[in-house]
Amino acid sequence: MIKNKLKIGVLTGGGDCPGLNAVIRAVTKSAIIDHGAEVIGFENGFEGLINKKFRKLDYAAASGILQLGGTILGTSNKANPFAVPVKKGKTVKIEDKSGEVVSCCKKLKLDCLAVIGGDGSMSIANKLAFKGLNVVGIPKTIDNDLTGTDVTFGFDSAASVATDAIDRLHTTAMSHNRVMVVEIMGRYAGWLALSSGLAGGGDIILIPEIPYKLEEICRVIEKRRSSGKHFTIVVVSEGAKPFGGEMVVKQIVKDSPDPVRLGGIANKLADDIENATGFESRATVLGHLQRGGSPSAYDRVLASRYGVKAVELIVRGDFGKMAALRGNEIVAVDISYAVSKLKLVKPDCELVKVAKSVGTSFGA
Ligand code: F6P
Repeated sequence: MIKNKLKIGVLTGGGDCPGLNAVIRAVTKSAIIDHGAEVIGFENGFEGLINKKFRKLDYAAASGILQLGGTILGTSNKANPFAVPVKKGKTVKIEDKSGEVVSCCKKLKLDCLAVIGGDGSMSIANKLAFKGLNVVGIPKTIDNDLTGTDVTFGFDSAASVATDAIDRLHTTAMSHNRVMVVEIMGRYAGWLALSSGLAGGGDIILIPEIPYKLEEICRVIEKRRSSGKHFTIVVVSEGAKPFGGEMVVKQIVKDSPDPVRLGGIANKLADDIENATGFESRATVLGHLQRGGSPSAYDRVLASRYGVKAVELIVRGDFGKMAALRGNEIVAVDISYAVSKLKLVKPDCELVKVAKSVGTSFGA
């Protein structure tokens, strides 16, 4: 049990997504209303923790932000207290500042740090917990690839954006009798492409977990043509790869804890399909559009439930845990479990089976 006035620190780490502000609001408001607690927010994710940049979050600061995209606290997908680049003359050395970060939180008399983030941020939170810092986690990511929770917040909003885009591509594909290849984010997990592809009625869905064969994709497109369907929508996950081949890497961000940035598969595939079939093909890359804008109603509710649960865990002193959704219930799982492996699509899961049953090809 925690004594005196509870003091909570909160930060948003990693890539942004819709619903971050809804969580900040829920943590801050429930901490104040239910527990008379004090809340401070660290700026730009772990960067604020390293550079001691934080501000008080009072009730007014948490008001009017539920529907706002992005994060009022800012975020960084590079900052990591265990590997901080420090300039020494002309050279840059990587230093472990985690000890300083833990003592800074102690000096600030923080009872707990609430980390809102994906697997990268949760891995840092997990390591900080091992160094003696009280932490709780809140699962964020449009990729939906965090183990231990059925759904991460941000995923539903991104899936809605991608679905809307697929709907729009349908009408132009039909007008021009084209093959439209749309690239969806998600890193090494196919959840976003699978979900939006299913919702948008994609004819072919390609995900990292099911390597594709170009010949099979072309066969499906040609079969559609001969049955009178002169257009095809191919929904491709940025991490999709051909059987026996590699993912397409767009960029290496050297100073990022996870330096690989995927991207480029849609352009490659559109060229491959056009060359192999002679059918006019176009590529669309949705990119960061999927992360922008207001959270969906589902994400606003989920984010609020996660935020309130995180504060409940803090009040109980149940540290090292992440709020999670299991069925319809919000539960707590160990952060160490959440970061133990990525949650990937199982090729024989129900969603894949449903897609196949409504005539979707996985190009395999
Ligand atoms: O993890 C979220 C995500 O949007 C991925 O889907 C994507 O691969 C990556 O982040 C993009 O990272 P960045 O914002 O650094 O370009």
